[in-house]
Amino acid sequence: KAIYVLNGPNLNLLGTREPNIYGRTTLADIGDMTVAEAKAHGFDVVFRQSNHEGELVEWIQEAREAASGVIINAGAYTHTSVAIHDALRALAIPVVEVHLSNTFSREEFRHRSLISPVAKGLIVGFGANSYVLAVDALASLIEEAAE
Ligand code: DQA
Repeated sequence: KAIYVLNGPNLNLLGTREPNIYGRTTLADIGDMTVAEAKAHGFDVVFRQSNHEGELVEWIQEAREAASGVIINAGAYTHTSVAIHDALRALAIPVVEVHLSNTFSREEFRHRSLISPVAKGLIVGFGANSYVLAVDALASLIEEAAE
């Protein structure tokens, strides 16, 4: 089974969007980095991005059957989406929340996450490397559960 890496709104613009905050690495580059890191742990990756809340919900539902774990950067939906919260809550597999920026050092409205209460853990603030660290964290969780 694969690791699902799901990306929310505006993350398709990475590389050109506010590079001072989010860096110059594109989402395609991050996809390559996660695939390489997951491969080292023996996992395949399904890497996707959507600007639509409902599509993210459908992918999370799909992960119920198809994935051994989920890494999610829900973008701005992190702070607003009860639907994504509920979809993640219904998963029996581990969820890791990631953010490129340190959301806690930014505006007040980014301090609340509806993803965090249903995540096993969070990795925030390390730019593109947050994703690589998240793959390592998720792979250890899955390996530990299989022991
Ligand atoms: C983000 C942080 C969110 O607050 C923001 O809306 C994003 C990106 C991050 O990865 O730092 O779109 O999730």
